[in-house]
Amino acid sequence: MLTSILFLSAIFSTARSCPKHDNYQSHPHLGRRQVRIDVGRELKDWDYDHSADWATIRPEYALCQSGTHQSPINIAGQELAVTHTPDFEGYKNEPVPGNFANWQFAPSFTLHHPEGEITGLPNLKFDGQEVFLIGWHIHAPSEHLVDGRRSRAEIHMVHVNEEDEEAVVVGIRVNVAPPGTPTESAFIKQLGPLIHFNDTSQIEGLHVNVRQAIDEVGGLAEYWTYKGSLTTPPCTEGLRWFIPRQELLVSEGQMVEILAASRFSHRVPQEVWLHDINL
Ligand SMILES: *[C@@H]1O[C@H](CO)[C@@H](O)[C@H](O)[C@H]1NC(C)=O
Ligand SMILES: [Zn+2]
Repeated sequence: MLTSILFLSAIFSTARSCPKHDNYQSHPHLGRRQVRIDVGRELKDWDYDHSADWATIRPEYALCQSGTHQSPINIAGQELAVTHTPDFEGYKNEPVPGNFANWQFAPSFTLHHPEGEITGLPNLKFDGQEVFLIGWHIHAPSEHLVDGRRSRAEIHMVHVNEEDEEAVVVGIRVNVAPPGTPTESAFIKQLGPLIHFNDTSQIEGLHVNVRQAIDEVGGLAEYWTYKGSLTTPPCTEGLRWFIPRQELLVSEGQMVEILAASRFSHRVPQEVWLHDINL
């Protein structure tokens, strides 16, 4: 309920919700060993019980209702994309430091980088552009549907352009490996214990190999792409989405842990309109 969220105790925090965070720019503990601090809780004036109606909350959220290419969508009956091919060469296969927390709905990670300097972050290239990974967070269950089917969770890897504007999200659907295939996700495993949605603490200086997530979905050799938006208010448009065909597979135990740390966090699917899927 909206009211219960408003009553959540602590008044301020540096962490902004999905997908970008205010505190990603620099960090006082940069370069220091791992610490755990309480960052408090930011008040949100929206929630997932009313995700079909966010535009009524504030004029700034108007696009949530009037936008022409809102996310998430159901990708139905689509061939795989052959356009805007993403190149993950700039995602080094090594752990990078960041802050691990929960964005009040599910686990989240914000990469460290020196103030005003994003170009050292893992980068993704497409169409001659370069965008930089500032963080990732989870939604449960998944926001995107493929042929009407929803996965148990979805990881959003959020990238900004050189002007520091949100430009690209890679939306990785997460599911449980089929019975008999004892798959464990190394990407999830390296995180250690996940932080619960009610826990306002943040682990600073956790090292995470983000490349692992890309590798676990086949390096996005198969994907869909479209023009979409942020999936939380203010629902800003003009972002490119990449949705790998492969789901990231986790063990039953890992999925139980992801779900236990998360709360319901998918926006209602949006009508496909000017999304230019795969175009
Ligand atoms: C989460 O926090 C709220 C507000 O403090 C509390 O009412 C609720 O019981 C907590 N839920 C869990 C699962 O800890
Ligand atoms: Zn998201």
